[in-house]
Amino acid sequence: MNLTRRPRRNRKSEVIRNMVQENFVTVNDLIYPIFVLEGQNQALEITSMPGIYRYSTDRMLDEIAACVDLGVKAFAPFPVIAENKKDRFATESFNKEGLFPSFIAEVKKNFPDVVLMTDVAMDPYSSDGHDGIVDNGEILNDATLEILAKMALEQARAGADIIGPSDMMDGRVGFIREYLDKNGFQNVAIMSYTAKYASAFYGPFRDALDSAPKFGDKKTYQMNPANAREALLEAELDTLEGADYLMVKPGLPYLDIIKSLRDNSHLPIAAYNISGEYAMVKAAAANGWIDGEKAMAEVLLSFKRAGADIILTYFAKEFAQYLKKIS
Ligand code: PBG
Repeated sequence: MNLTRRPRRNRKSEVIRNMVQENFVTVNDLIYPIFVLEGQNQALEITSMPGIYRYSTDRMLDEIAACVDLGVKAFAPFPVIAENKKDRFATESFNKEGLFPSFIAEVKKNFPDVVLMTDVAMDPYSSDGHDGIVDNGEILNDATLEILAKMALEQARAGADIIGPSDMMDGRVGFIREYLDKNGFQNVAIMSYTAKYASAFYGPFRDALDSAPKFGDKKTYQMNPANAREALLEAELDTLEGADYLMVKPGLPYLDIIKSLRDNSHLPIAAYNISGEYAMVKAAAANGWIDGEKAMAEVLLSFKRAGADIILTYFAKEFAQYLKKIS
């Protein structure tokens, strides 16, 4: 055959393949979401997320030390709040002495260089299991903003580097930005959950925090999975309101949205490879149906290829171990 173009020439050997490789995942790209428990010496595995544990602060400090050794230095903690501390207004979320601010301060004291991106949303603390105040079955937008801002301020005071509003209320980025600035926290950044979809893949996370909605669903605030243009509208608003990073969540079913934000924004773009995506890979691997390690590496690479700068993933530690093993 007389073919002028033979793309296979560039795949001929490992050295050549490495030479022409377009995208890479490194430990610098990763943020590790972690789950924090009350108490001492507690470790509770999440059944639907094999290998992921909820730890009390003391045990989590050991876990963070192990991750830092592997090069993973950014974390996104979520608090597990006891049922008797939950109420309609998520009051516990702005308790200075609460589990979460204490945890943040403890991490920053022990690891000043570690970056903490802290979650702002009512659901871990809400007796209704929603991200906003529930009033007669309706999720109130503007009244919720006040709570989110108070929560963000306590996290900033405790030492958070990046605030991560995951609630999808309208106007929250601007409202939180203004509140932080007014209180002297101009240097605390905001990573907005910009395009957060009403997804079936959040299940294992809600198991981890026991935070599933007590009634209804989250479709009046999280986005419809059928929509793409709407993500650009959210991105435009978050950018105008002062977001420092834009995030897409979930990751795998929304690679097109990551690409679209990448092409339409100058801000860093993050992808959240969420709990259900982690669970899928783990379940298939446990059954011997796929090679879990290779699937993990391929999934993470897909986010970089789509244009993400940052990946939030439960694979962070395992991927860092894998990189070390293959180097
Ligand atoms: C809610 C929140 C959710 C996640 C992070 N913050 C789930 C939800 O909207 O119910 C999910 C993360 C994951 O599934 O890994 N504020």
